[in-house]
Amino acid sequence: MGRRVVQIHFLFLSAVVCYAMEERDSASATPRGKAPSNQSRKSYGRSRRSLGVELTNIGFTPGHLAGLRAPTSRELPKPRNLTEHVNPEQIALLVKNEWKLSYITPLYQFRHTQLKTYSKQLSAFIAAEKQQGLAVEIEADTSFRVTFSAVLGLAETEDDAETVFIQIHSRPPFAVEGDAPKVIWSGWLTCINGNPEYLRSLPSGFVCLPLFCTSGSESLTSVVKLWFEKTFDCNFGTLSLNSTCLQWLASMWTGCHPAFNIRYLKLVWNLPAQPPLDISYTIHPQDAWDLWNSIREQDSAADTISINEVESFMKGLEAHFFRHFRIYLSAGTLTKVSTTFGSAHCDGKIKFTSGDSIKHVLMLLTEYALLKMPI
Ligand SMILES: *[C@@H]1O[C@H](CO)[C@@H](O)[C@H](O)[C@H]1NC(C)=O
Ligand SMILES: *[C@@H]1O[C@H](CO)[C@@H](O)[C@H](O)[C@H]1NC(C)=O
Ligand SMILES: *[C@@H]1O[C@H](CO)[C@@H](O)[C@H](O)[C@H]1NC(C)=O
Repeated sequence: MGRRVVQIHFLFLSAVVCYAMEERDSASATPRGKAPSNQSRKSYGRSRRSLGVELTNIGFTPGHLAGLRAPTSRELPKPRNLTEHVNPEQIALLVKNEWKLSYITPLYQFRHTQLKTYSKQLSAFIAAEKQQGLAVEIEADTSFRVTFSAVLGLAETEDDAETVFIQIHSRPPFAVEGDAPKVIWSGWLTCINGNPEYLRSLPSGFVCLPLFCTSGSESLTSVVKLWFEKTFDCNFGTLSLNSTCLQWLASMWTGCHPAFNIRYLKLVWNLPAQPPLDISYTIHPQDAWDLWNSIREQDSAADTISINEVESFMKGLEAHFFRHFRIYLSAGTLTKVSTTFGSAHCDGKIKFTSGDSIKHVLMLLTEYALLKMPI
């Protein structure tokens, strides 16, 4: 559709000779392999302080539940062996697909002990919708089956309800005995480290699993949502990921580089131009880590990051890009962030390629789902 795409690899930037002078003058450049000087720390320090002032002045709209606002610091992912607590086969289910995100309001009278019943009920509901001629994208003679299961061990606190995973399998009419049924749709509902004040404030009978991830046809997703709405008196809404969320992800992934090796940090910006311009900016992990280290606040704990650090990190990346290409990335919109651990898109799509940082990403997404929910 006439979209221009510019691919830029940070790795090669230090080889661009005509920018060599600028490179030397600039305080915050982090050419590959060189640690930022003391000078650069000072300049980041200044911008950090002014950012801090701006942020406190903006504040948050009062009136919401005291705890229900975006936190200003977060824990960094630590190497944790998820398979000690969660069945590896279930982790494999979560890391397989790209998931479309929605939020879902608390479910009334949902019971983890009734998953078998729900499997039958949803199955019957889909069959009825199909009979009414609704396009559910299951061929007429195809038999299908719905399974609900609990993913145990993913919950982070005792207030978190256990994750629920749903699959729709189909078996074509002429399937041979022994053919494995095909998964045509999957989805899951989760709550990782949900705001405890909010969770405890819910009237009894409600279960909060605010993040809904789906993979499969839109029509099946709609039917599943409809069944949830009718059965548990809940509502769904789209969950897009704004640039603040993507910046947190970029920083969290970079911040755990020494523990995990992120392999690359890739960011995509969309710039307002005719036709629209997508800039894809790939940063060598060591460069990203050096910049990250240079903006870390003196008093910050090793395992947490603050919003100020996130902002300084992004400013550093944008400043470096500007010095080389005279393009203000901040004039555009950050649309995608990826590392070897996964990717997140502003449209509300996420993909995990390993279980390593999955919990921390889900904590962030749970929080966004709760913030997005109408209270
Ligand atoms: C920064 O400066 C301090 C003294 O001002 C010095 O002790 C330290 O080694 C310097 N660090 C770097 C990375 O140059
Ligand atoms: C994680 O734990 C499981 C079960 O205790 C073990 O089999 C596996 O080797 C561990 N993996 C790593 C990377 O430590
Ligand atoms: C992104 O969304 C979060 C949660 O709704 C909000 O706190 C934050 O201010 C938003 N950021 C921007 C840049 O809109």
